Amino acid sequence: MNILVTGGAGFIGSNFVFYELEKHPEDRIVALDALTYAGNLETLKPVMDCENFRFVKGDITDREAMDRLFAEEGFDIVVNFAAESHVDRSIENPGVFLETNILGTQVLMDQARKHGVKRFHQVGTDEVYGDLPLDRPDLFFVETMPLTASSPYSASKASADLLVMAYHRTFGLPVTISRCSNNYGPYQFPEKLIPLMIANAMADKELPVYGEGLNVRDWLYVEDHCKAIDMIIREGKDGEIYNIGGHNERANIDVVKTILKEVGKPESLIKYVKDRAGHDLRYAIDPTKIHDELGWEPETPFDEGIKKTIRWYLDNEEWWKNIISGEYQQYYEKMYADR
Ligand code: NAD
Ligand code: TYD
Repeated sequence: MNILVTGGAGFIGSNFVFYELEKHPEDRIVALDALTYAGNLETLKPVMDCENFRFVKGDITDREAMDRLFAEEGFDIVVNFAAESHVDRSIENPGVFLETNILGTQVLMDQARKHGVKRFHQVGTDEVYGDLPLDRPDLFFVETMPLTASSPYSASKASADLLVMAYHRTFGLPVTISRCSNNYGPYQFPEKLIPLMIANAMADKELPVYGEGLNVRDWLYVEDHCKAIDMIIREGKDGEIYNIGGHNERANIDVVKTILKEVGKPESLIKYVKDRAGHDLRYAIDPTKIHDELGWEPETPFDEGIKKTIRWYLDNEEWWKNIISGEYQQYYEKMYADR
């Protein structure tokens, strides 16, 4: 099978490329990425010379380039990871989120229709369900819930999901959607909570916790997410939506304290800062459907995954130090200087 992985130089996309090449050496993987600030070709270096791997630099909103690529490759499956993915950036500058996350998805689906792709898989997020109250631990996101979005990021992802289901119903495009909770693991860009806190702790810098740090996220090790998507694209039912999550809810402050303990730094580094606008309180996934229909279950418990992740960041300082030394420095100043 010939599989297009868009956003393949990003965090989850690159982990998915590694997972597929290892698990299905009989398949061919083409990673497409625009190499925005979040994409990093260094990440794909270990597989660049594999015979069944090709990297293409390109933008999913570029209709002509996508048409050429689809015609040339004749993809069987498209897995769409490409997106603007950071909530805080979407609050600063929503426009590019709508372009990439909504219009880019439409361009890809038009090419999938035109070139007879057998499965278009949209990598979605649990943020499309809005949030849950902190005092109702009995409530979870299920696939049938209506979509409500809090940030321009989640609104753009919800819009894309609606468009995917519309292409399925109206044009009969074979699709699946997955909606996963927060991921963590190797190669995550250090603007996101876990790698940002590891990097700051290592540099003895303040750890900026939004609000009181009580917001809850449901963390999943990235490889478990990759495994779920692999199952969905091969065995998932056409037109279905699958939630992915491992019942691993943690308050942000507890995650931050765990990181400090692991790296041996004092809690006095924690700084409570101004809250994020529209900050979602709690995410929590009910993964019953993917478990019952496809037999998926997570393999890496948080205590093990967080240790592996911290170890990876300690062993791969060059990877993230290169990132935080450049343009990211300006981003950090802008976002955190007066917070
Ligand atoms: P990321 O920001 O690390 O990677 C996104 C990649 O997409 C980058 O390599 C970037 O260069 C590329 N990209 C951006 N715009 C593009 C364009 N116009 N054309 C081609 N490539 C483009 O994000 P991530 O955390 O790896 O997330 C991947 C996907 O998974 C996203 O769709 C996101 O919504 C979804 N998701 C993420 C999480 C999470 O916790 N990170 C959870 C659930 C779902
Ligand atoms: P993030 O990693 O941006 O993911 P998302 O907003 O998509 O869930 O943030 C995870 C949580 O951590 C979220 O509740 C916001 C919080 N947070 C901080 O407290 N400080 C930070 O510097 C960042 C980046 C996030």
